[in-house]
Amino acid sequence: MSDGPRYFPGFGNHVSTEAVAGALPVGRNSPQRVPFGLYAEQLSGTAFTAPRAENRRSWLYRIRPAANHPPFRPYAAASLLRSAPFDEAPPTPNRLRWDPLPLPGEPTDFIDGLISIAGNVGAGVHLYAANRSMERRAFYNADGELLIVPQQGRLRIVTELGLIEIEPLQIALIPRGVRFRVDLPDGAASGYVCENYGPAFRLPDLGPIGANGLANVRDFETPAAWFEDVDAPTELIQKFQGTLWTTTLDHSPFDVVAWHGNLAPSRYDLRRFNTVNTVSFDHPDPSIFTVLTSPGDMPGTANCDFVIFPPRWIVAEGTFRPPWFHRNVMSEYMGLIEGSYDAKAGGFAPGGGSLHNQMSGHGPDQASYDAAIAAELKPHRIDKTMAFMFESRSVLRPTRFALETPLMQLDYDDVWTGFTKAELPK
Ligand SMILES: [Fe+2]
Repeated sequence: MSDGPRYFPGFGNHVSTEAVAGALPVGRNSPQRVPFGLYAEQLSGTAFTAPRAENRRSWLYRIRPAANHPPFRPYAAASLLRSAPFDEAPPTPNRLRWDPLPLPGEPTDFIDGLISIAGNVGAGVHLYAANRSMERRAFYNADGELLIVPQQGRLRIVTELGLIEIEPLQIALIPRGVRFRVDLPDGAASGYVCENYGPAFRLPDLGPIGANGLANVRDFETPAAWFEDVDAPTELIQKFQGTLWTTTLDHSPFDVVAWHGNLAPSRYDLRRFNTVNTVSFDHPDPSIFTVLTSPGDMPGTANCDFVIFPPRWIVAEGTFRPPWFHRNVMSEYMGLIEGSYDAKAGGFAPGGGSLHNQMSGHGPDQASYDAAIAAELKPHRIDKTMAFMFESRSVLRPTRFALETPLMQLDYDDVWTGFTKAELPK
């Protein structure tokens, strides 16, 4: 099929979709004979017995069953991809910041272009930089769900359940186990990936905010069924327990003609985020910017939150307006999709990243602080910016690559060294 992507609005809702009329069984998930001789296959993203509100599964109707593959063998190429528990290097309490990852010099696709930066038992933080599409190659991640955050270049993501196209300022969510391939319409692409080992990302509860606001359900999009009927060798790579394994199919795995269920990839446009903030004074906690959350065992303490800092009006009266100095029990990896971040005057470039782990002191740099305390507090708009945070209840342990790469800024601490001493009255 050569049609472009089609989407259903909504997030985690039940979708029924068929790319060929009559392919979707009616009234039964696994009828004795599926239309056209397709194979019925359940893809379970939660345990069978997970409570109904948590339960995520889809029924796929495909040309060949996913079980139709030879044994996997270890993937030979060196990979800088890692998984929990991220224990190859001792964790450091220091604040860390990195320059952007350059595009590769050699032909590199999305899978070979993935590099792990940090992680813990609940989430991994990776970067990707690629300059060619995945050719006759597919991938799935048995270890976790993938949240893909492009910083440069569009991605056309072919998944078993349909096509997703995203560009910088859009994100994609790929459930654990779903096979996909990444094509690069622009020829080059880079960005960030959060790998979620915990409960699937979902929209946060809104409490007193009410029924609307932040990321609205209707702005998520789930792809309609799309398939290709290709009998040609296709490498299938999986990530399993932190290492890559490979096998070769004699056909394309993107052969799901129809599906129904609530376990599916989706995309979201960060420009549709309905930002909520103060209209009186003080800077609310950055949790007001939460797009998606993977809950932890303790209420309100996330396994991982995805938080953005979008363009917005700032009107707080009598207030230090940039993000304040703070120390946080949660650990924060920050990235920047475009523009600049209002607590840093320099050094934090689009495509770069910073890591402020559990209880490390951080906040505005000297220049941002000086400007903020001198500013005339008119309403002003922060524009053309999109920073984000992967925030986790557990320390994000940097990988050896992250600690040894020349991209790491050895002078990062200097942004906080110049503050003059407060003067108390004599
Ligand atoms: Fe912070």
